[in-house]
Amino acid sequence: MLRRLLIYLSKAKWAQQLISRWGFARRAALRFVAGEQLSDAVRAVNELNKEGIQASLDFLGENNKTEAETREATSRLVEVLDAIHQNQLKANLSVKLSQIGLLLDQELCEQNLLRILDRASENGIFVRIDMEDSSLTEKTITLFEHALQKGYSNVGIVLQAYLYRTHDDLERLASFNARIRLVKGAYKEPAELAYPSMAEVNASFDKLAERLLQLSKAAGFPSESADQITPPMVAIGTHAARHIESVIGMMRKMQVPPNAVEFQLLYGIRRDLQQSLSKQGYPVRVYTPFGTHWYPYFMRRLAERPANLKFFLSNYLKG
Ligand code: FDA
Repeated sequence: MLRRLLIYLSKAKWAQQLISRWGFARRAALRFVAGEQLSDAVRAVNELNKEGIQASLDFLGENNKTEAETREATSRLVEVLDAIHQNQLKANLSVKLSQIGLLLDQELCEQNLLRILDRASENGIFVRIDMEDSSLTEKTITLFEHALQKGYSNVGIVLQAYLYRTHDDLERLASFNARIRLVKGAYKEPAELAYPSMAEVNASFDKLAERLLQLSKAAGFPSESADQITPPMVAIGTHAARHIESVIGMMRKMQVPPNAVEFQLLYGIRRDLQQSLSKQGYPVRVYTPFGTHWYPYFMRRLAERPANLKFFLSNYLKG
């Protein structure tokens, strides 16, 4: 109930206008966001890199509705790629297609995406396409397939375990040896499209993770190539220790080498787990958002764990 309300608020324009103006909300958001400027993000990634942890930078922004906004966002994303290159960061880029035109025009979005992929490829950087709500799933996968068919190898996608369709999507992308980040899913979806209970989502996550490992094994664990640009085929995006343990168990059983899977967590969440996985020798990547459009991202983090509301309110009490 609270989760649904918070996800509703994450999309409500009126709530965004109100809450983004509150200084204490901004302070609370900074727990999950590296800062508002690109220089803040560079600093945060340098800190992570010192601990042997890689990053995926997310220049916050989504649901852009004019062509000018999408072109401006694309230019900013290209600047992020240049900053990664110039500062020699161990980082790649995550992108939401609604930031670069998916809500407006598929062709415009594709042009913007290819501009990003071209610069990423010049700079030797991988780009991960985030997955948004189910109204965009098919369009997002289609644009991803177009990029693969055009020969881009420095691009991957996210699939969400809560959607019934994901099993088929995984098989659909298997012929490309696609690089996939598996997550549970962070949006409000109807029971016709997504498992309504957490137990079912958890079971789906484990099943899909196992299938991803099988596909990666069948492809000969492409992570072991000398190519620095492309990360392993399998990225496990979760903070739930039970899933991580279960994936590590499957890896042992299936003789999957530790560098064939990347564990990915969000900035500011389960730092202990990030460090301990890295110390055990598993590749760890932290999704690191930055920018002024932190509101919807922050609200989704509150929705995932309503206990975070306590922390939000404590910032209010601190004034
Ligand atoms: P789960 O919800 O089962 O919680 C397990 C434990 O993790 C909790 O007990 C708590 O300790 C910790 N935890 C989880 N969320 C927390 C929070 N917000 N604050 C504090 N602690 C928390 N979604 C999507 O729809 N599209 C996408 O592209 C992505 N991309 C993405 C990238 C990466 C790297 C990650 C880790 C996650 C995403 N997600 C996402 C979000 C994902 O769908 C999901 O909503 C969250 O990861 C929460 O689910 P978990 O599996 O992490 O843990």
